[in-house]
Amino acid sequence: MHSPTRPRRQVVSFVRRSARMNESQQRAWQRHAAEWVVEVEQHETSTSVAEQPPLDLGTLFGRTAPLLVEIGSGTGDSLVPMAAARPDWNVLAFEVFQPAVASTLGKLAAAGVGNVRLLMHDAVGGLTHLLTPASVDEVWTFFPDPWHKTRHHKRRLVSPEFAGLVASRLTDTGTWRLATDWDDYAEWMREVLDVAPGLVNVHAGDGGWAPRFADRPVTRFESRGLAAGRTIRDLTYRRAESGTATP
Ligand SMILES: C[S@@+](CC[C@H](N)C(=O)[O-])C[C@H]1O[C@@H](n2cnc3c(N)ncnc32)[C@H](O)[C@@H]1O
Repeated sequence: MHSPTRPRRQVVSFVRRSARMNESQQRAWQRHAAEWVVEVEQHETSTSVAEQPPLDLGTLFGRTAPLLVEIGSGTGDSLVPMAAARPDWNVLAFEVFQPAVASTLGKLAAAGVGNVRLLMHDAVGGLTHLLTPASVDEVWTFFPDPWHKTRHHKRRLVSPEFAGLVASRLTDTGTWRLATDWDDYAEWMREVLDVAPGLVNVHAGDGGWAPRFADRPVTRFESRGLAAGRTIRDLTYRRAESGTATP
């Protein structure tokens, strides 16, 4: 039973698992973490984010530029080539799993990509406390963990609350791109996001699904889904014009 003296841990969209790094990940971490991994004040767990002043993005990136946020960047297979293709953007990525962040650091260094900063924290707390309303030009959420079992649906990243949070962080012309290889999660995303205040389905008039986002590299999650005969669904939402999103 839950102890009344210990605070109940928040339901999160990721698995808390052992974070042992292999040798090349350790090397990449030692060489590049100080430069590209952003330290913020944590709350109860290492991946949680305490209430604190928002990030000073100008100082963090050393310039002012459109802001792109990737949520759950994994080992950086989309992040690194996409950031390389947008040198004029600042790219902020949330990924809670340290070995994956370390692999991303190695790929960033190998590709000579300098416009990315990584946060090893829960994107929910991160968007809430570290980014101000109407500050993000584009959000990517590619192949989020599907959490198939009904009792785990509460762990799905895409929820009405999270939709409100993302909508509130998008600029007036901001866009949220998602992709999944799981039909049930794709349908769930549509059910949640099509009615989310503050968001508009860009493809509402033509069936609701977006064409495959051409800039999105094929990651192992997409390959695995295709090999298993699943359909990949892309979705694109933009910020609704009126300020109806919750802060
Ligand atoms: C299935 S993987 C997909 C990775 C990547 N987007 C790709 O397509 O290769 C989902 C990733 O999201 C991360 N993740 C899940 N919930 C998160 C959250 N709330 N904040 C930050 N990262 C999260 C997990 O650790 C995992 O690495």
